[in-house]
Amino acid sequence: MEKRNLTIFITGASSGIGRETAIRLAKEGHKVFAGIRRKIDKEEIENLNENIQGVYIDVTNAASIEKAFWFVMKNAKSLDVLINNAGIAVGGPVELIDVKKLKEQFDVNTFGAVAVVQKFMPLLHNSRIINISSMAASGVFPFVAPYCASKRALDILFNSFALENKDNIKVISIKPSSVKTPIWNKSVKKAREYFTNISEEAKNKYEKQLLSIEKKALENNENAIETYFVVDKIIKVINCKNPKPSYNVGNQAVVAEWLSRLPLSISNRLIIKFLNSSK
Ligand SMILES: NC(=O)c1ccc[n+]([C@@H]2O[C@H](COP(=O)([O-])OP(=O)(O)OC[C@H]3O[C@@H](n4cnc5c(N)ncnc54)[C@H](OP(=O)(O)O)[C@@H]3O)[C@@H](O)[C@H]2O)c1
Repeated sequence: MEKRNLTIFITGASSGIGRETAIRLAKEGHKVFAGIRRKIDKEEIENLNENIQGVYIDVTNAASIEKAFWFVMKNAKSLDVLINNAGIAVGGPVELIDVKKLKEQFDVNTFGAVAVVQKFMPLLHNSRIINISSMAASGVFPFVAPYCASKRALDILFNSFALENKDNIKVISIKPSSVKTPIWNKSVKKAREYFTNISEEAKNKYEKQLLSIEKKALENNENAIETYFVVDKIIKVINCKNPKPSYNVGNQAVVAEWLSRLPLSISNRLIIKFLNSSK
């Protein structure tokens, strides 16, 4: 792709990977439509670079997606790149997870991305869609199954889209390892709220694991890779002539993919061993 003056729309640009990506792309001279949900985030990000224009979008809300589409349509003839980045992380044992929370997980990470692409199709001819998936798409992480499933489903849906679409749209899935962003603290906060309301019996049954997941999520935040590793990969994918359909970012993602390719009986044994050793 031409390296300058591309038009790019990224969802979830108020913090973390989305924010850093929007800033870097704008600094490289591209026109960036940065998806945000609050006025304060719009002002903040627009003040950072004149190439950034904030666009209100809640990917779970059809009316909001429609408004965002018309805003971008009025301000750009087409998009070169659409980055589906907006995401949340819902965790917890499958036995206890509230189905409403499970739906919310899919509404944002999976159905939201599909809804955005469906609406933005008139702007996407000959473009690239970059999905910020996750190493979690490998599906090898117990206690965060909602998040893993939402990312796996995202990859499956968009791999089909890549094969089906008639508009020469390339799809690239980026699968980062744990990255230092606010997502982990947000998900722990939400999980704490939710798991205080479950029965004492359920609490006792999973207490150790819940504490251990919480600890791991907070450690993820400490030991994770820096955001720029993911941003570098996104920029590489935008600039390279023939991007691959999928990229891992960081060693954890490589190991997760490797584990997912083992027979389930072997990978499950390894995962149980790991869980027991880290109690
Ligand atoms: N951090 C990691 O370890 C990691 C690893 C692999 C993949 N990822 C993926 O990277 C992407 C970005 O996450 P991040 O780590 O940068 O976390 P983050 O800082 O929490 O960013 C998430 C972004 O998504 C937005 N968002 C949440 N719900 C939304 C909705 N309904 N509509 C529109 N925007 C919404 C948030 O906006 P508000 O501020 O308005 O809530 C925020 O801008 C996610 O898809 C995540 O799954 C993260």
